[in-house]
Formats: sequence, C-alpha cells, structure tokens
Amino acid sequence: MNKMINIGVLISGRGSNLQAIIDAVEKGTIPAKVVVVISNDPSAGGLERAKKHNIPAVVIDNRNFKDKNTYELEIVKVLQQHKVELVCLAGYMRIVGPILLEHYEGKMINIHPSLLPSFPGLHAQKQALDHGVLITGATVHFVDSGCDTGPIIVQSAVPIKEKDDEETLSARILEQEHIIYPQAIKLIAEDKLKIEGRKVKLK
Ligand code: GRF
Repeated sequence: MNKMINIGVLISGRGSNLQAIIDAVEKGTIPAKVVVVISNDPSAGGLERAKKHNIPAVVIDNRNFKDKNTYELEIVKVLQQHKVELVCLAGYMRIVGPILLEHYEGKMINIHPSLLPSFPGLHAQKQALDHGVLITGATVHFVDSGCDTGPIIVQSAVPIKEKDDEETLSARILEQEHIIYPQAIKLIAEDKLKIEGRKVKLK
C-alpha cells in the first residue's frame, strides 16, 4: 500500500491544470491529497476551484512583500504548515527564487506548453507557431534555478495544423497537459522516479 503524499499547488490564473490534478486525486488515480492551493494573484480563478473541493485556498500576493525572498518565505511557511511534500506549479507566473528552491528542489515540478528545451518562457505556443515547427507539445519537469530548464519527467507531442492559431493550438496542447500532469505526479507519488543529473529515470 502506497502512502499518500501531500501536494501543494501554486497558481496565478484559471487553474485548469489544478482541476486536472484535483480530478485525478478524487478519482483515486494518484495516491495523493491536494492539501493547499496558493495563488500570488487574488483574482485567480483557480482559487474558486480549490474552495469548491474544500481545499484551503491561500492568497499570498507578491506585491505585498518587500522582496522575493520575504515573499517566498511566506509561501514556504504555508507549505510547511500544510505538510506539503510535493509542490506543483500550475500556471504559476512567477520565476522561482532561491528560497523556494532551497526548500523544495527535487520536490517541485512545473508544466510547460512546449516540448522543452524548445520555447521556454512566455507564449510558448506562439513561439512554436512563429518558428514554424511542425510538432510542439507539453512538458512536465522538475524545477531548477533556470527558466523551464529542469530535468524532464513526461512529454507529449502535439502536431501543428496548417490552420492553427495561438488559441486552437493552445487548446490542443492543454488537453495533453491535463493528461500528463497527473501522470507525472503519479510517478512521483508512487516513488518511481530518481533524478540523475539532467535525466529522470525509473527506479
Ligand atoms: C498552461 O498552459 C501551463 O502549461 C502554463 O500556464 C498555463 C496555465 O493554465 N504554465 P491553467 O491555469 O492551468 O489553466
């Protein structure tokens, strides 16, 4: 019998990936519990999703802190209060700084809408369209000090269609995000992964 791990989800927006995680947890697909959702943006739609599922939804507004370190110390405090063992960034629009990394490196993952290392950073779907690639996709990776550079856990490819624009492509990528994010979390919750340098391997 696997032990249940405590997940904390960091968001900044609508929270559709958060919803995919909550749904997988509620279906019993992942041996985990979402114990807290934290948003830096008080207007993030994902906060309502959390409340609907009786998950504590906490706003920690980065604008109320004098610098990144004090802001992240507050996040760490809340994560620790809820005994979080795995931090999932799901549309969290702040770059992770040294304080969060110091506490959660190797225990913090992110989802990105491209096949990394292609198109890191903002507007990954538009970057892919502008570059003219024929295939893009989604990536779940461990968070390190770079921007979308950490060891890769799961990827899913999405072919680009002739008539795609940013909106249609983003929607097809998002469908894959909602599949692979719970898959990656399941692998971690079941303690199946180890990180070896840049590579994530099955134990
Ligand atoms: C997703 O495309 C995710 O890959 C990116 O930000 C978006 C968040 O969407 N990091 P949502 O808030 O999960 O709906």
